[in-house]
Amino acid sequence: MLPSHGANPHLLFEQLKIPMPANTIDFSENVNFAGLPNAILEKWGSLLPLLEKYPHPNGEPFLSKVAKYHEVETSNVFVGNGAAEIFALLANWWANEKVIIVHPTFSEYEATLTAQNAELVHLEVTNIENWKLPLPRIEAHMKKAKAIYLCTPNNPTGVLPPYEQLQKIVQWGEQYECYVVMDEAFIDWVEGATSWIPSVATHPYLIVVRSMTKMYSLAGIRLGYAIAQCEIIEQLERRASHWHINALAAQIGAYCLDEEEYLNVSIMQAKKQRLAFEQVLLRLGCKMTKSVTNYICFQLPNPEKSRDFYLDLLLKGIVVRHTENYRGLNGEWFRIGIKTQDKMARLEQELTQWIKLNGSL
Ligand SMILES: Cc1ncc(COP(=O)(O)O)c(C=O)c1O
Repeated sequence: MLPSHGANPHLLFEQLKIPMPANTIDFSENVNFAGLPNAILEKWGSLLPLLEKYPHPNGEPFLSKVAKYHEVETSNVFVGNGAAEIFALLANWWANEKVIIVHPTFSEYEATLTAQNAELVHLEVTNIENWKLPLPRIEAHMKKAKAIYLCTPNNPTGVLPPYEQLQKIVQWGEQYECYVVMDEAFIDWVEGATSWIPSVATHPYLIVVRSMTKMYSLAGIRLGYAIAQCEIIEQLERRASHWHINALAAQIGAYCLDEEEYLNVSIMQAKKQRLAFEQVLLRLGCKMTKSVTNYICFQLPNPEKSRDFYLDLLLKGIVVRHTENYRGLNGEWFRIGIKTQDKMARLEQELTQWIKLNGSL
């Protein structure tokens, strides 16, 4: 069994008992390849005194910064120790309840809900490439469920479901009193995307989850947030441990939300690399999903050889994200995070060579 998350490539090599090549490139994680915003490096020294004091219990100054950034009240924001903590707290709230997950999607929804004995309803999209949500089945189950999770844009396919379809689900949420969790961890990357945050004010069953990890390259500090009506925020606060947001994270996150230029340049660069690599995949006869974010999900022309491809690449120090633990993808698709041009070129070279030797070119 391969690890069920990307990143931490040394653990993968250890598990497979393969020596890790010195110049390994990890495409299995999908955080910003630009690295931290420069402003954080410049301010680094001034952050040290924060280590000596207890942090703010609700994650200030980040809490107020998020509220201002999204034009909501602080009572509508819950700061989490990564979006991952928010999923754990939601699952704790919905222990033993019926909850819907639409697959293939991020594995933490299922992991956290299973740990709380939730009764899971697993629905699958009908077409991976075009991402057709099974709307009639979703509505039927929402009538009896406590919540539904949607990943927008979806991980690992990068597809953003059409706004009108999500709107229907949000309306059903109110009609059937079923919470709708919209995971917008990757929406920062989508130019002109319509976030569901402004709709929270008028939709009492809507919960939007965001992560600072992906855009700001902050995987190590653990910082995310949820935006929802106050009653929902109170449910999360009640379940969180005291001082769950460390002081460094709260201050660094607040600085990051000022980094508008970094954000815009990152979006542009990732899009440029994504579009270029999609052309490579097309040329090589690979299928791919309609990703709008900073990773690509593709299938080899001969998907039955996916495991061989994955292992051959590992031996060359190239780690892509397998999909063996994603329902509906069954290991026959791969996700690659967008990296610098030279790293993408190396992947192109290895992929081309592999398909020439093993595939249909
Ligand atoms: C879709 C999605 N949501 C949330 C998360 C968790 O983000 P965080 O690092 O803020 O816990 C991830 C991490 O991979 C993710 O892929």
